[in-house]
Amino acid sequence: MTDVTDVREPTVEGRPAVLGGDPVRAADYPRWPVWDDRERELLLGTLEAGGWWQGDGHAAADFADAFARYQSEEFGLALTNGTHTLEAALAACGIGEGDEVIVPGITFVASATAVLAVNATPVLVDVDPETLCIDVGAAEAAVTDRTRGIVAVHVAGAAADLDLLTDLCARRGLRLIEDCAHAHGTFWRGRGAGSWGDFGSFSMQRSKLMTAGEGGVLICSDEELRDRAWAYADCGRVKGEWFYHHATYGSNLRMTEWQGAVLTAQLERFPAQNERRNRSAVALGDALSAIEGVRPQFRDERMDSQGNYCYVFHYDSDAFAGLPLRDFERALGAEGIPMGVSYPSLNHLALFREGNFGPRLRASAPTQDYRSLRLPVAEHAADSTVWLEHRLLLAEVDDVLDVARAVERIQRHAATIVEHQGGGS
Ligand SMILES: Cc1ncc(COP(=O)(O)O)c(C=O)c1O
Repeated sequence: MTDVTDVREPTVEGRPAVLGGDPVRAADYPRWPVWDDRERELLLGTLEAGGWWQGDGHAAADFADAFARYQSEEFGLALTNGTHTLEAALAACGIGEGDEVIVPGITFVASATAVLAVNATPVLVDVDPETLCIDVGAAEAAVTDRTRGIVAVHVAGAAADLDLLTDLCARRGLRLIEDCAHAHGTFWRGRGAGSWGDFGSFSMQRSKLMTAGEGGVLICSDEELRDRAWAYADCGRVKGEWFYHHATYGSNLRMTEWQGAVLTAQLERFPAQNERRNRSAVALGDALSAIEGVRPQFRDERMDSQGNYCYVFHYDSDAFAGLPLRDFERALGAEGIPMGVSYPSLNHLALFREGNFGPRLRASAPTQDYRSLRLPVAEHAADSTVWLEHRLLLAEVDDVLDVARAVERIQRHAATIVEHQGGGS
């Protein structure tokens, strides 16, 4: 193999692209989504078979079952998206008006709006400073006699501490719903993410680790919970009853067969992609750890593999001549690195600050005062972490290491960048 340090050293030395230099990467990283003739074949098969609806075909249901088995779980429900999977899980657990559900501050808004959707109060708690996942101590401190469950998010595929969470939920009689929207392919002590709680909720939206543009899968092992979730997702129908026998409240949250066809092909390709992303993430972590002021998101040793929805690292502007995070992100993007961005801490959203809950929580006001709520770790993380798109992890390792070269280059020239940009975003 080529000695990359010798070959690449000049690019690290070069003028940063944000100051007009050539970018570290001229070529783009692999595109996302990845697809080939297999998707085409399965889509055409669905088209020609004519069963375009879950009630007529079997692509979506078969995919959801296969995906559940991949994540070490028994049952899988093929639903519309990863917001509705959370909502169906909460509804199946009987969570509703007057109940509280604990949700971490760093996540996509859906982890909390799903709680609002069933008319329960999301109780926002802080996150662990290293993994960015729920701080289990903070979750325990937030438990009241109204608490019914925890939505634990595996942020960027890094597993929340499932040992502590399952213990806490067992001791306090709480439901555990794992929000695995980022965690396809995350395994904790030999078992898939999503198989530890009462439900595991996955999204197959465009940016996720496997995708049909939109889509979601809910996994569980309890038949009764499964049937209740499915009834909620299928207009309140009861298995074995007349089609128009609607026994309970429900809605239409069913995945289409088109999505099932595409996701079947995506799942076939997934294990090899997951391995490659993990190899890349470990190599990138080693390279970034050697740079002052950069700390990769903590990779717990109990985690056998990480889904890596994004590649996340902590950024300390002090080691970059005070270059603000947003300017650093811009400079890294200019070097040809595909950039995402951290979620804001949920307590900073107008939704919570202004209590814009629409028809939700009218009868029972939220039990948490969101306006005065502080989540110091989550708030700091939102302003000090860098999120890179997962597609770059599908490249050859040497190409992935361009991220570290670009970071180093920016660091060497940080004072000049600050000077040119007036020191502010
Ligand atoms: C953590 C988390 N939960 C839930 C969702 C909702 O998934 P969907 O977009 O499929 O509704 C997302 C999607 O971005 C997410 O990132």
